[in-house]
Amino acid sequence: MKKLIVALLVLVCCFSLFAQAAAESSGKTRIGVAMPTKDLQRWNQDGDNMKKLLEAAGYEVELLYAGNDIAQQVSQVENMINNGCKVLVIASIDGSSLGTPLAEAKAKGIPVIAYDRLIMNTDAVDYYATFDNYMVGTKQGEYIEKALGLKDGKGPYNMEIFTGDPGDNNALFFYGGAMDVVRPYIEKGQLIVNSKQVDFAEVATANWSTENAQNRMEAILSSYYAGGKTLDVVLCSNDSTALGVENALANNYKGAWPVITGQDCDIANVKNMLAGKQSMSIFKDTRTLAAKVVEMVDAIAKGAKAPVNDTSTYNNGVKVVPSYLCEPVFADVNNYKELLLDSGYYTADQLK
Ligand code: BGC
Repeated sequence: MKKLIVALLVLVCCFSLFAQAAAESSGKTRIGVAMPTKDLQRWNQDGDNMKKLLEAAGYEVELLYAGNDIAQQVSQVENMINNGCKVLVIASIDGSSLGTPLAEAKAKGIPVIAYDRLIMNTDAVDYYATFDNYMVGTKQGEYIEKALGLKDGKGPYNMEIFTGDPGDNNALFFYGGAMDVVRPYIEKGQLIVNSKQVDFAEVATANWSTENAQNRMEAILSSYYAGGKTLDVVLCSNDSTALGVENALANNYKGAWPVITGQDCDIANVKNMLAGKQSMSIFKDTRTLAAKVVEMVDAIAKGAKAPVNDTSTYNNGVKVVPSYLCEPVFADVNNYKELLLDSGYYTADQLK
């Protein structure tokens, strides 16, 4: 066993040296891109876009996915540092788990850009690029406000709430933005959360998993909506959680279909939107974010400052991280053609 471990270690070291030598001999600057998982459509797009654009700009790219496994992401980032990457771009699984490898990156003078999700509790993150996460939440909340006529005093309506993974700082922003819009209506009694699950910890979904959201929705339906009570609206922070809610409703709910929010415009959810099973999604064009991050990498690699447009919002617990916030866009059946098809994001066949 010992021999096997030693042999594996030697192999990993050789590979690192080889990778570093290859990068140096190609004369290209090597950039490490760490993505959380291939399970969700968006991260595949983000990774592909980043790789394509960085290579077109003349960089060599080490792109790795960590299967939503925190320990795997930590070791991937360590390997990127040892493989001679000169800039790291990281979409973290758990924002607070990268302190140790990033301290190493900092000691070696390797700049770090947090991609989409803020990296928390470390001074070793230089920049953050994302969509305006709070705005994502307010757009979802405002959609509900309008769809139900809450400003006109309509209600009461029954609502349930699903947000994302507690280790993802974004989830707090999505939840916060949406709750700032809908909470006053809960307080006035126009929105009633029958499960009483309203606090962030109660409505979080581990790993943003469709299955976890589905299980929780099924439990809520059988405990609070059996016997014909109508569920009018489900606030979902993103498409993977919305999909779980939609699956649970399809199997266990006979009433009128509720208003359901989402985010990402994943193919499965756009199809549900066209079938009347999801009311809206937020479109975050991953091409825009990737292009902006490549611009940032390019600036840093040339020793300049990266472009930012927000220097106050994203405090990671240690410092305010200079950020570039792209604007998220509201999408529904009325504008999806223009947003998703005309822009070449999807082909019509993909949505059939
Ligand atoms: C991203 C969302 C995504 C979610 C689940 C969040 O950090 O901003 O776009 O739906 O993670 O992967």
